[in-house]
Amino acid sequence: MVGGERGADVAVVGAGPIGLAVAWRCATRGLRVSVYDATPGSGASEVAAGMLAPVAEAYFGERMLTGLLVSSAARWPDFAAELTAETGMDLGYRTEGTLTVALTPDDLAEAERLWTYQRQVGLPVTPLRPAELREREPLLATRLRGGALAPGDHQVDPRRLVAALRIAAERAGATMLPRPVRDLAEPDAAVTVVAAGCGTAALTGLPVRPVKGQVLRLRAPDGAAPRFRHVIRGHADGRGVYLVPRTDGEVVVGATVEERSDLGVTAGAVLELLRAATDLLPEIAEYELVEARAGLRPGTPDNAPLLGRLPDRPEVVVAAGHFRHGIVLTPLTADLVTDLIVTGTPDPALAPLDPGRFGVPDPAAAAEDGPTNEGRTLWS
Ligand code: GLY
Repeated sequence: MVGGERGADVAVVGAGPIGLAVAWRCATRGLRVSVYDATPGSGASEVAAGMLAPVAEAYFGERMLTGLLVSSAARWPDFAAELTAETGMDLGYRTEGTLTVALTPDDLAEAERLWTYQRQVGLPVTPLRPAELREREPLLATRLRGGALAPGDHQVDPRRLVAALRIAAERAGATMLPRPVRDLAEPDAAVTVVAAGCGTAALTGLPVRPVKGQVLRLRAPDGAAPRFRHVIRGHADGRGVYLVPRTDGEVVVGATVEERSDLGVTAGAVLELLRAATDLLPEIAEYELVEARAGLRPGTPDNAPLLGRLPDRPEVVVAAGHFRHGIVLTPLTADLVTDLIVTGTPDPALAPLDPGRFGVPDPAAAAEDGPTNEGRTLWS
């Protein structure tokens, strides 16, 4: 797919984790790579919690997507080790696992349905009684009704990840161009990779819509690490919430799931996130609230990413629409897209992710329609 007289072999539009990982992998394979982004790293990854959670995120009816998450999560240990060795940077990669907990009998009944499904499809999830939960995390609320451990659901700090990927890509020879791309005819390259998150719709006409998530960042007192180690996910009176502890003292609390495209932070969302989080782990009421932000997840009609060539435009490769799973899917996406560019042959894993699976895209219509905005709010 590459070669010839163009300015670069590969132009990557978007310097988030997906775009930068593709750039790193392509540059490592000897390709000349340019990365276009007016505001690198300022998209969904700047707000994301960084859960690598193929089990906790496995949901009814999403078998294909779950398989993808499992496959990419399995690549994370080597990916993190390689990136750390290359850059010397601490990615905040932690492997203590995830506890999913339920506050009320209704929360527990709902969670048990999902754990049963997850175990039926072969995922490692172990139900735990309240006393067993508190053996693992003594600070969990005493009135929790039950929970489960997903030992293979890990975490990484997306902000550190993006910084490291940028350094690795540049060291491998990629060039960063701090400017926007408004038309796919602009980059002077044999292949253009669109990794533009929610901006992918306007560039390609593909059905990528913004799904707003409000996320808080807290800090443990006195510069100490939080006094819990696992990622805690759970439901408290029907409100879903997750708490992600970093060794540097940060705790990420998320998130709303809203069919909206604005970046406003609302008092109601902050109230509900903190209510649910403190119901599960009362101690964090003492932590400092240091940040409240909203990000836009790039959603698709079937919640799975769009990976592969654009219909009728084989020189354009799409790596977008990762919705809730951009961080965990970064290593697999980078490998599949780079192999496609280098060999010209799509891996069979790409077949169900074909960007054309929802019909032929129409960029003009996408620009006119704008994003959907039903204003519905759910909780993670
Ligand atoms: N993956 C977590 C979220 O999207 O909120």
